[in-house]
Amino acid sequence: MPTGAWWTAALSEQVAGTKPLAVVCDGRQLALFRDAAGHAFALEDRCPHRRVLLSPGVVKPGGLQCPYHGWTFDGASGKCTDIPNLRRDEKIPAAAVRAYPVAEQNGFIHVFAGEGEAPQRLPAPAYRPQGREYTGTAVAGIAFDEYLDVMLDGPECLMAFPGVLITDFFLGEPRRDGAHVVLDRGAMWKGRGLGPAFVSEHPLLVRTRVPLAGGDIAIELLDAAEQALVTIQVGATANRRGTTSLAWRGFAHARANKGPPGWCLRRLAGKPPFNVFTDIEGRAIAALEKAPSLARRGIIPIASHQHAHPCAAEESFA
Ligand code: FES
Repeated sequence: MPTGAWWTAALSEQVAGTKPLAVVCDGRQLALFRDAAGHAFALEDRCPHRRVLLSPGVVKPGGLQCPYHGWTFDGASGKCTDIPNLRRDEKIPAAAVRAYPVAEQNGFIHVFAGEGEAPQRLPAPAYRPQGREYTGTAVAGIAFDEYLDVMLDGPECLMAFPGVLITDFFLGEPRRDGAHVVLDRGAMWKGRGLGPAFVSEHPLLVRTRVPLAGGDIAIELLDAAEQALVTIQVGATANRRGTTSLAWRGFAHARANKGPPGWCLRRLAGKPPFNVFTDIEGRAIAALEKAPSLARRGIIPIASHQHAHPCAAEESFA
């Protein structure tokens, strides 16, 4: 029985060339790199020889070379493949570093941090960029589980759609969709019409899909007909010392080119249709009522519902 989960460790384009990428994924320090054929690998970021970091090393044909004494470790097995100062008649000792299963899909590099055979389903299976894409990474100063809870209780504390007001009006109860909790909130164009207290029909809605376990968060800005304007996929995972690593890809659909003048001007200027906050305001987080997140934590019951939107589809990878 496998334990653990797939985590989004990085954006695909972050791992390139001969310089490894140091990441923290599910609290584990990893060195990510690619071989000459483009396959991505994840090794524990700790040389078994003298326990120094491997990530300042360099990618060689035989794997990742430690910067200290030059031992090289195979990306797939973690086994030592080369020790520069060995004589020809000396054997390479059975030293190895832990190698983690890696899979790449839709522009994300995922690492399975667990034991046993990795499950088929990856995070972010339904992310399908269409049109202009906006990406980023950050470390947010909030603990991972809190990040997931706040994405349900008050997503406006963690991200924004410039020009859009995310209200605290829930459009229905939180619902279970596969391994996620889904919640819709009313939203409206800023500066248009009356304030949120006077609005009964919201012209926009923000849908957040937050995992029960794992860290693949999907956020959508939808119009009143539930057609997507903006789709964002955020890979979140525990970093160290109560922080959270984030890697996101998002894009504006063609219909996002319509809207109020300020919104349209931003699209024409190529500005991102969303911001993922890296500086989280503690006062705003502390003031949030815990409500939908109680469903994610199993403290209040949650309705099971299979949503029809394509982004809700769960797929496996071959
Ligand atoms: S510490 Fe890595 S090879 Fe010696």
